[in-house]
Amino acid sequence: MTDRELVDLAFTMLERSYVPYSHFPVGAALLCADGTIFTGCNVENSAYGSTICAERTALVKAVSEGHRDDFVKLAVVGNSTDYCWPCGACRQMLYEFAPDLTVLVARKDREFVRLPLHELLPHGFGPKSLN
Ligand code: THU
Repeated sequence: MTDRELVDLAFTMLERSYVPYSHFPVGAALLCADGTIFTGCNVENSAYGSTICAERTALVKAVSEGHRDDFVKLAVVGNSTDYCWPCGACRQMLYEFAPDLTVLVARKDREFVRLPLHELLPHGFGPKSLN
């Protein structure tokens, strides 16, 4: 699975987004070492704070299906002129399982940048921090 393919797969998730409040669809695709891919979209709620982001949807799908320590690459995409940077909560949730995860962040023209999660969340708090 190339970076381009993972980004394009994340774009297919935009149509699944439930975004009646923000009208800002986000798609995600999370690649595991064995090739399994978990996709996600944002799912909003009339109690706005109950909204879940696309990246966390993909992540909780993966963890609930038994994947935990084999995450390789995540693509996150939006319909915005700027890159669809993951929010702080998503960075934190991803850091728990994969501080070295490669993150592909795309904008609506499908251009993307590639960077490690630990650059998005430097000095992150993780499981080792509790020792
Ligand atoms: N959103 C995501 O899905 N991922 C992010 O990392 C940033 C924000 C969603 C949440 C909400 O449904 C919409 O984008 C606007 O904030």
